[in-house]
Parts: sequence; structure tokens; C-alpha cells
Amino acid sequence: MMLQVLLLICGVAASGAQVFWFFSPVRFHSVSTPATMESVPGNAVLQCSQHCASRPTCFGFSWLQLGLCRLFNWSAFINDTWNSSDACDVYTRSEQFKQLQKRLKFVGCKQSSTHSSHICDNAIDGNRKQNLSFGSCTHTTGNPFEWWEGQLNAPSFVSYVTIYNRQDYAERLNKFSLQMDGVECNRVSLTLPFSVANFSCNAFGSRVRVTNLFGQYLSICEIEAYTL
Ligand SMILES: *[C@@H]1O[C@H](CO)[C@@H](O)[C@H](O)[C@H]1NC(C)=O
Ligand SMILES: *[C@@H]1O[C@H](CO)[C@@H](O)[C@H](O)[C@H]1NC(C)=O
Ligand SMILES: *[C@@H]1O[C@H](CO)[C@@H](O)[C@H](O)[C@H]1NC(C)=O
Ligand SMILES: *[C@@H]1O[C@H](CO)[C@@H](O)[C@H](O)[C@H]1NC(C)=O
Ligand SMILES: *[C@@H]1O[C@H](CO)[C@@H](O)[C@H](O)[C@H]1NC(C)=O
Repeated sequence: MMLQVLLLICGVAASGAQVFWFFSPVRFHSVSTPATMESVPGNAVLQCSQHCASRPTCFGFSWLQLGLCRLFNWSAFINDTWNSSDACDVYTRSEQFKQLQKRLKFVGCKQSSTHSSHICDNAIDGNRKQNLSFGSCTHTTGNPFEWWEGQLNAPSFVSYVTIYNRQDYAERLNKFSLQMDGVECNRVSLTLPFSVANFSCNAFGSRVRVTNLFGQYLSICEIEAYTL
């Protein structure tokens, strides 16, 4: 019995290894899956891989044990609102998935006001040090709803931003609104201050804004935007 199973796996691998290895599992027994663009019969992950690989817009597939490959595109995958499903395994193109996980480039910025020399550019100068006196953090004056905004070099899908907060007075950034092109993509309300943290956005656009809802100074030591 063991030998049979082994032979079967070897047989599959030998006949289609090239296509198969372009895909890797991102979720096992998932109870939700990206919206399907096409359903095709398939009795193995290998067959689903071949179906998906032959369609340029196919980004991955979810595979149901009962022999159905449900193919999906990138925008369906990236969408937070996956459809409910019988438990099935979700696969995506591995190389494309890796390329998607990348840092986006800010090419400019502005902020609602500037205190002393703590200009908006300090949030995107590549220096992640979290001490204001080292000259690499931004700082506004103390009015309500102070904001910082960064311009991406091209409209992009921002999955999340990483914010490097000041070490001291970190609690000033406990409540803020994260916006993409003027539309809120996340409202953050923390009870404990953070030092370095990711905040999801999952929106497409080119202007990323942080508006302080704490009611006074806004200071950011570094902000980085990432696409999935
Ligand atoms: C996902 O859900 C929507 C809304 O219920 C439905 O119209 C669509 O057919 C579903 N897509 C699938 C099962 O991939
Ligand atoms: C992706 O697939 C979804 C669901 O089938 C479809 O509604 C949407 O139009 C597709 N998007 C693209 C860019 O092909
Ligand atoms: C994500 O799903 C929602 C709800 O079904 C839909 O309105 C929206 O257009 C989808 N977005 C993308 C990028 O497919
Ligand atoms: C920031 O740097 C200054 C000067 O080196 C130092 O006095 C201060 O303690 C540092 N602050 C923090 C929070 O580490
Ligand atoms: C932010 O998310 C990325 C990708 O999941 C992860 O590698 C990184 O460690 C996270 N950073 C923090 C501060 O949680």
C-alpha cells in the first residue's frame, strides 16, 4: 500500500513537475476562497496547475477534493471579501506571489504643519531610527487632525503600511485614520502604544495619508508601504 502511494506521487511529479512547482499552497482547508472566474474539472493539484498555467489571467486556484478546480484572478485573490466555501486548498503562482510582496516607493510628501526642522521627508528618508533628536522623524505643531501624506511613484495596491513610531510620546499615535486618495482604509484605535507595527489598508491609489485623531502633535519616524 505504502509503495503504491509512493509510486503514484512519483508518477505525478515526473509527468508534470515543471508546471506543478510554479504553484504553491497559501491556505489549506480554507473555508473561504477568492471569487471564481472559471470552474474546470480536475482530479489533482497538478491538473488544476495546468489549467491555471494555460490561462494568462489565472493567478491561482482552489481545489475541491471532489474533482473541481476553481480558478481565480489576481484581483479576486487580493479582495478581502472571499466567498464561503467547502474546505478546500488554495494555491497561487509562487513566483508572482513573491514579486507581489514588495515595498512601494514614496516620491514626495507633505504634512499639515511642520515643527522646527522635522519635515515630512523624514518619514521616508530610509532612516528607521525612532528618536526625534536624531533628526529622522517628522513632527507637526499641535493642532487637531494634523496629518502626513506620502505620494507613491505610481498608483498601486497598498496591502499595509509599516510605521516606526517615536520611542517617547508613542501614545500620541494611538488613534489615527489611514487613508488612500482621501478615502479611509483603516481606523486605528489602540489602548497601548506601539513601537513598530503594520496597519492594513488594502486599497488602490497613490496618496497615503495618516491623520492623527489623538488631537495633537503627529510624529512619524518612518513609514513604508507594501503591496501583498
Ligand atoms: C461568490 O459570491 C457571489 C455573491 O454571493 C456570487 O455571485 C458568486 O457566484 C460567487 N462566486 C464564486 C462561487 O466563486
Ligand atoms: C476577476 O474575477 C472576478 C470574479 O470572477 C471578476 O468579477 C473580475 O472581473 C475579474 N477581474 C479581472 C481584472 O479579470
Ligand atoms: C471585491 O469584492 C467586492 C464585493 O463583492 C466588490 O464590490 C469589489 O469590486 C471587489 N474588488 C475587487 C478588486 O475585485
Ligand atoms: C534620544 O537621544 C538623545 C540624545 O542621544 C538621548 O538623550 C535620549 O535619551 C534618547 N531618547 C530615547 C527615548 O531613547
Ligand atoms: C509586517 O508584515 C510583514 C509581512 O507579513 C512581516 O514580515 C513583518 O514582520 C511585519 N512587521 C511587524 C512590525 O509586525
